[in-house]
Amino acid sequence: MKKLQIAIDGPASAGKSTVAKIVANKLSYIYCDTGAMYRSVTFKALQNHIDLNDESAIVKMLEDTEISFAPGNPVQKVFIDGNEITDDIRTPEVTNSVSTVAALKEVRSILTDRQRDIAGKGGIVMDGRDIGSAVLPNAEVKIFLIASVDERAERRFKENQQKGIKTSLETLKKEIEVRDHKDSTRKVSPLTKASDAIEVDTTSMGIDDVVNKILEIVENVR
Ligand code: C5P
Repeated sequence: MKKLQIAIDGPASAGKSTVAKIVANKLSYIYCDTGAMYRSVTFKALQNHIDLNDESAIVKMLEDTEISFAPGNPVQKVFIDGNEITDDIRTPEVTNSVSTVAALKEVRSILTDRQRDIAGKGGIVMDGRDIGSAVLPNAEVKIFLIASVDERAERRFKENQQKGIKTSLETLKKEIEVRDHKDSTRKVSPLTKASDAIEVDTTSMGIDDVVNKILEIVENVR
């Protein structure tokens, strides 16, 4: 059977990573979390005290930076230069800084090339903001996942509680809105729904329902 490229885009905390990983497992496809790549770059830049607006310094850093993934539960493991940073890239500091780094043209160009390499042979579920619109414009399946901002803040709040992160619901809601605004209004490859993407509103859907909906869409294409 043909190995497809499946692009899953959408705003912050819409549940993309959770469902993308399950869909990839069910199809025995590779899963690639592109948000984790932007987060990894942001984490390393912060650690090296690089100004997040200093594009040439970040690009130089990226030339010697290897980002890799390994299977993990409940989230995929992420490594930078061989060191595991799975939890480090989910801190509020990284989350609230990543959109600044993700707006840098040259950084996007380097990461987009790496993402295309990973997706080249198909059999891939890739999630992000610009996968269907810019990274894999020929993907056979394009999904745009949305949910109300209240629901997304609520989901993030519950996740954070399990990790011991104490940000209030109101703050989370504001942070999500700020990040969506930055991601949607940047000049290069902004968060946008590709014209041929299928929108799925997950506001009142459980994870299994969203996964089944996506698998149904995939079946219709195969
Ligand atoms: O998906 P996640 O919330 O982990 O993404 C973190 C950030 O990385 C986003 O807010 C966005 O700024 C950036 N991003 C992006 N393009 C992608 C994936 C993520 O700009 N394809």
